[in-house]
Amino acid sequence: MAGIEIESGRARTEPELEAAVSGARERLGDALAELDGPPAAGFLSVPHRSDLLREVRRFVRARPADLTDVVQLGIGGSSLGARALCRALLAERHNQTVRRPGLRFHLPDNIDPDSLGELFEMLPPRRTLVHVVSKSGSTLETLAQLFALIESFRRRDGRGARALRGRLVVTTGASGALREFADQEGAARLTFPDDVAGRFSILTASGLLLPALLGVPVGRVLAGARAMEARCRAEPGGGIAGTLAALHHAHDTVRGRRIHVEWIYADALLPLGDWFRQLWAESLGKRGRGPTPVVARGTTDQHSQLQLYTEGPDDKLYTLVAAGRSTRRVRIGRDATLAAIAGRSLREVFEAEERGTLEALIEKRRPLIEIRLPRISPDSVGQLVGLQQLQTALAGALYEVDPFDQPGVEAGKRVALRILERGAG
Ligand code: PA5
Repeated sequence: MAGIEIESGRARTEPELEAAVSGARERLGDALAELDGPPAAGFLSVPHRSDLLREVRRFVRARPADLTDVVQLGIGGSSLGARALCRALLAERHNQTVRRPGLRFHLPDNIDPDSLGELFEMLPPRRTLVHVVSKSGSTLETLAQLFALIESFRRRDGRGARALRGRLVVTTGASGALREFADQEGAARLTFPDDVAGRFSILTASGLLLPALLGVPVGRVLAGARAMEARCRAEPGGGIAGTLAALHHAHDTVRGRRIHVEWIYADALLPLGDWFRQLWAESLGKRGRGPTPVVARGTTDQHSQLQLYTEGPDDKLYTLVAAGRSTRRVRIGRDATLAAIAGRSLREVFEAEERGTLEALIEKRRPLIEIRLPRISPDSVGQLVGLQQLQTALAGALYEVDPFDQPGVEAGKRVALRILERGAG
């Protein structure tokens, strides 16, 4: 398996930073071994759990034959992982080009009535598989999505709505409202391990079922994550995951660079950027601490953000994520009126632009990390996921926060519930 390459030298240009990074690496010491115990153990064990993968594969094999669509209901950690893997590992226009028995997929990740209502109206009630994901089983948005979908199906096709039973699959924890509903409906159930926090669930059925249903070899994603874990365990201080955690922490605490920009040069990886943005923010933003993650798109944001990033305040650390070797060769005609691009490929232009961003940031002495995937594949995406999960867990140790809880999110959920209950009374 070709390893992803990480270059972090350009983020340690000052002696004071270099010392802070070394200090943090030392502090991390055996941090990776410590993650083997609770409460982190769950997310580290997932790529090794063949029982979880078997469960997913069994469901894929037994899925009803007459489907055209699959929709995943859920929010945050119960949605972003599946979306990231589907977008990274399927064709950009999968839904427009897929032929039966292939499935179209939908991950609304919200409850905006306009967009959700439109989606529900176009889903065929008797040919849609519904995957509901919620660890707690009580998240308002997810339950609202589910019962609004059932209502929409019922209005359009009463019998079709009743037949949802055979096309409902639920990934949830051991108890909760969703679990009860699933049992009552006789729905298929997949495991949401109790010791895995929502945003660390990408390698469970929460993130894997949809891509597996769509033909992605998810076993290779898990293999990539395991390979990255082994790579990081082979060095003290968590290897490259420890170095990245230490760099981000040092730039934040020593230099006040609290904004972490992940600049992605591959459209297929953008939703993975959104997944990491949530992982980084929700895991580390606690006790008055925590960096602010931002996702930028190359080349688009060169014409939106680059001016600010090169000549604005020096309060950011940049991570450029790029992938080599595209599957498509798109040529620019020799008759192009700009000689510099005539006869070239789009990749050459894309890479020149990426180089331009890199050089512009270096010239202004902005700190920069580079992550390069040999190409976008299940293995390399698994490695990146494994790396970013480990990096986040280790950064939790440096920030001295629990990266696996989310008290602020829970508080918001309680307020929304109170408001609705008051209205209902
Ligand atoms: O990462 C988290 O814990 C959160 O983002 C949750 O995934 C999100 O709030 C949804 O929670 P649940 O899976 O319980 O429905």
